[in-house]
Amino acid sequence: MKPTIYISQPVSEKVRQYLNEYCEVKEWRGEDRIPRETLLKEIANVEGLLTAWHKIDEELLAAAPKLKVVSNVSVGYNNFDVQALKERNVIGTNTPYVLDDTVADLTMALILATARRITELDKYVKDKKWEPVKDEEQFFGLDVHHATIGIIGMGRIGEAVAQRAKFGFDMDVLYHNRSRKPEAEKKYEAEYCELPSLLERADFVVMLTPLTAETHHLLGEQEFKQMKKSAIFVNVSRGQTVDEQALIKALQNGEIHGAGLDVYQKEPIEKDNPLLEMRNVVTVPHIGSATAQTREAMAMRAAQNIVAVLTGKGAIDPVTD
Ligand code: DGY
Repeated sequence: MKPTIYISQPVSEKVRQYLNEYCEVKEWRGEDRIPRETLLKEIANVEGLLTAWHKIDEELLAAAPKLKVVSNVSVGYNNFDVQALKERNVIGTNTPYVLDDTVADLTMALILATARRITELDKYVKDKKWEPVKDEEQFFGLDVHHATIGIIGMGRIGEAVAQRAKFGFDMDVLYHNRSRKPEAEKKYEAEYCELPSLLERADFVVMLTPLTAETHHLLGEQEFKQMKKSAIFVNVSRGQTVDEQALIKALQNGEIHGAGLDVYQKEPIEKDNPLLEMRNVVTVPHIGSATAQTREAMAMRAAQNIVAVLTGKGAIDPVTD
């Protein structure tokens, strides 16, 4: 008999067909995101769950006593209580590798958009405000090429950003990571720095670290003060790696030049968040991996992880800590 799994978010026909070969598939077909209470009822008898954003905690696991695998369509898995999964012998999996280049592309896009004021000036043109001006200084931005990038979190995505920065933009690459990366140092002439030194030297400070207990609010008031006044801060990891109130203050007080943000303390961002009123802040709605090709590859990888566990082969991408 095929194992039953639950899919809590839409997947393509191709992914569904693949899953159907190995599993009985139950699926949420509502217009909106599945409410948690509904999910808890739906998973009572399933062995696998494919999800992307639900909190996978003791309460959820207790509601699904037959569960063997939770497969996240995401590389970040801060929605998992890893300890609770371990205690219940449930395997958690994520989707690394397939999104590295896509997230790195968005990181460069945020760097460029903020430095060259793309969204602000796009609005200016479309608002039909562009008249001949005596002084073009009002359109000036900052150079990206030959500047110094400071990457916090030199994992696969960090390396993909370093590659673009070094070879696409001739940038100097600094990085901070929980362990040294000798290969990356060689490949991108990247220099390992302690965090304060990276913050003092980088023109672009890029946050790419996963959210863990250690990285929660890694950057706060003091850290923003350590950055150059001309620095641009870019966050493509998780909003909670940064004290968002401290970021807002730093921007309001001119302690840093601007910010490019994909992620926020609360998502969707609150309508009255001051970041939304700032000309020097570029905001996008958590779209790091959001291209059609990459999201399809992530969903397929998540599906393969479920099947691998439920057919006894062992997860391809188990999360361990
Ligand atoms: C992830 O997969 O963790 C990304 O945040 C998605 O954009």
